Amino acid sequence: MKVLIIGGAGYIGSHVRLAMTEAGHQVHIFDNLSSGLRENLTPDTGFTHGDILHYQNLVQTMREQGPFDAVIHLAALKAAGESMIKPEKYSVANITGTLNILNAMCETGISRIVFSSSAATFGEPQYLPLDEDHPANPENYYGFTKLEIERFLAWYDKLKGIKFAALRYFNAAGYDSQGRISGLERNPANLLPVIMEVAAGLRKELQIFGNDYDTPDGTGVRDYVHVTDLASGHVKALEYITNHQESLLVNLGSETGISVTEMLETARRITQRQIPAKTVPRRPGDPAKLYATSARAKSLLGWEAKHSSVEELVATTWQAYIKALSLD
Ligand code: WQD
Repeated sequence: MKVLIIGGAGYIGSHVRLAMTEAGHQVHIFDNLSSGLRENLTPDTGFTHGDILHYQNLVQTMREQGPFDAVIHLAALKAAGESMIKPEKYSVANITGTLNILNAMCETGISRIVFSSSAATFGEPQYLPLDEDHPANPENYYGFTKLEIERFLAWYDKLKGIKFAALRYFNAAGYDSQGRISGLERNPANLLPVIMEVAAGLRKELQIFGNDYDTPDGTGVRDYVHVTDLASGHVKALEYITNHQESLLVNLGSETGISVTEMLETARRITQRQIPAKTVPRRPGDPAKLYATSARAKSLLGWEAKHSSVEELVATTWQAYIKALSLD
């Protein structure tokens, strides 16, 4: 298939590009490079430096670089904390941006989309593991934008026949194990890249946001899923909506809870560096534990996380940091 990957120069998008080209698909990337990196672009794909807020940019790319069989849409703002302070920014980038994509697809006749949704759509868990039927009550505006987009997708399916796959990612982490993705995220706020920056000497210490949670070691537990696993989920989801002519909403998680302390200790062991850490108060809005069941992705897509052990997450990420920063 010929696929337009919007946000394909970003951290997850570049891994999705790799999985799609490996699966034999032809890829064109559309990215405004606001957080995506030029170094994540490769000669085997076309590239348009464009913005989803410019409707004509999208229509022109879909017309001139196509015809496309599908869009994979990963372009979004994703800082949950910031979304509570600057919701306007998130409304425009995430909601208006996605509506532009959907409308441009209608105008140019593209009828399939794979969309990056998020576990942030669920909010505080009422039970664990989280399945797709768990009530969706997002705790932050970022999660709200993702949930609203899922609802728009359902309407565009009903009214315009656009088939979608909404993939609810849990915590994306890790890097391509063969070192093919070298771009590091700028100013990361997520746990593993922060730990890596401390290990690399770019930050003084890790702040552990609370050690008094109701979890085995008192620190927050999350479901970290390797980006290579997430990427293969996109390939399988696109195959599914194409073959079944049916839309899809699935969790993509490892089904394993890893605590902050476990991640930190594994990183100390693998990097052989000290990684100073200090406990600070809880971060507002952080639930104690979140992890998925990915049973639906398994039964419908034959997907499961294969590279998401804590060791593989840390080792592949550290390898990317060593390479990009020329450490050791
Ligand atoms: C993980 C754990 C923190 C940093 C966020 C978004 C979510 C999704 C993924 C994108 C928690 C602890 C973290 C640090 C720490 N985003 N932590 N010190 O909050 O689970 O999810 O990213 O789609 O929408 O909310 O991820 O990596 O920030 O935190 O102690 O410096 O690590 O408290 O327990 P989170 P995270």
